Amino acid sequence: MDKFSASLVADRREIVFAPTVYKFQRFAELAQEFGLNERDVVLCNASVHASYMKDLGLKCQFVFRDKFGSGEPSEEMIQNMYDAIPYDSYDRVVAVGGGAILDLSKLLGCRRPDTVHNLFFKRFPVVHEKDVIAIPTTCGTGSECTNISVAIVKDEKDGQLTGRETKLGLVSDDIIPNRVCLIPELLRPLPYKPFACSAIDALIHATESFLSPHRKTMTSELFSEKAMDMLLKGFKLISEQGEEARMDYLDEFVTASFYAGIAFLKAGCGPVHGMSFPLGGTYHVPHGESNYMLFGAILKYYDEKNPDGEILKFKELVARILGCAAKDAISTLNALLGRILPLRPLRETGFSEQDIVEFPKSVEINQQRLMNNAYYPFERADMERIYRECY
Ligand SMILES: NC(=O)c1ccc[n+]([C@@H]2O[C@H](COP(=O)([O-])OP(=O)(O)OC[C@H]3O[C@@H](n4cnc5c(N)ncnc54)[C@H](O)[C@@H]3O)[C@@H](O)[C@H]2O)c1
Ligand SMILES: [Fe+2]
Repeated sequence: MDKFSASLVADRREIVFAPTVYKFQRFAELAQEFGLNERDVVLCNASVHASYMKDLGLKCQFVFRDKFGSGEPSEEMIQNMYDAIPYDSYDRVVAVGGGAILDLSKLLGCRRPDTVHNLFFKRFPVVHEKDVIAIPTTCGTGSECTNISVAIVKDEKDGQLTGRETKLGLVSDDIIPNRVCLIPELLRPLPYKPFACSAIDALIHATESFLSPHRKTMTSELFSEKAMDMLLKGFKLISEQGEEARMDYLDEFVTASFYAGIAFLKAGCGPVHGMSFPLGGTYHVPHGESNYMLFGAILKYYDEKNPDGEILKFKELVARILGCAAKDAISTLNALLGRILPLRPLRETGFSEQDIVEFPKSVEINQQRLMNNAYYPFERADMERIYRECY
């Protein structure tokens, strides 16, 4: 096990629950509670600003994420953001958005690095200097309460650039936001596909935390079980009543994804994330969908290798919620998810036959933190088999 993963395993804290958490009905309540002012930089989407903030007459510095480009944060996007928001122009960061905006805002709260690349490859320290208030507008990443900021970076091998890109998580307790505000109303304009991708991502966080062999704690189990219960009930509701049924369940979805965030903050995500990171990095598949593409196959792999370990408790839990036999839990779960979001094969994203052998090499080098959290270990050949199965 690498040194960093070993330090995570050695961490004896049962729960890390750093932000103070609020729930509001409207953005205006938040603005009043925190006295938003001209020294606050608010990072959000133009559309969310138009719907929920424009008419409030706030004096904050509004910065629209759209102006730095779309998709997941990249080295270039982060540098553009740094250039657009001078460090001495704000005292506090208010992030209103999906995981991408929340992850970007965590970096705004820290001392500026010499280069973004060095920050992500741990050659520049993470130093938290400005408070961050995080308000999620998707129900997936849990980024509002986690100690990770993810970006697509230039890949390295032995300190040399490989010419490829990958996703890398910058991990430090110093980037956990100071406050979290849940405002279910803000999820209303989120279109169905990103909604479904993010909610499935939350389910994967809860599952990977629940199955985490070395870092699971009594509190992560509690939060992951509750998150799975709320998310699966929401998926059943949508499967029975259609996409619009989510609108009456947004509070539960945004709360469940926050619970899953608390769970994985301590227990960690695992190989679903580890193996999907080069997919997101290379072919820019949305985070939740790239995880989803591998999730079912990885669960089947675990169940085949060690069906009677912790995964048995997972199957019993899923079976209770979905009303099936424990032995059918994984297939019933995969079928339910297929009704929430059609499962695309990897080849539809641009993923090639060559990637089946190349991706496992990159995963072995760059994603040890996640692969060490496997419920059952992976050899390179196991990863190749799973990529091929999903191809
Ligand atoms: N830090 C962490 O702990 C962590 C964990 C998992 C994932 N991530 C990162 O989070 C990102 C994915 O986040 P995500 O799934 O929330 O997606 P996202 O932030 O990329 O948002 C998805 C899309 O929905 C739009 N959108 C978001 N909220 C909206 C709303 N309320 N109304 C209308 N449109 C809205 C966005 O503009 C974007 O186009 C990835 O970059 C991933 O790497 C971070
Ligand atoms: Fe995720």
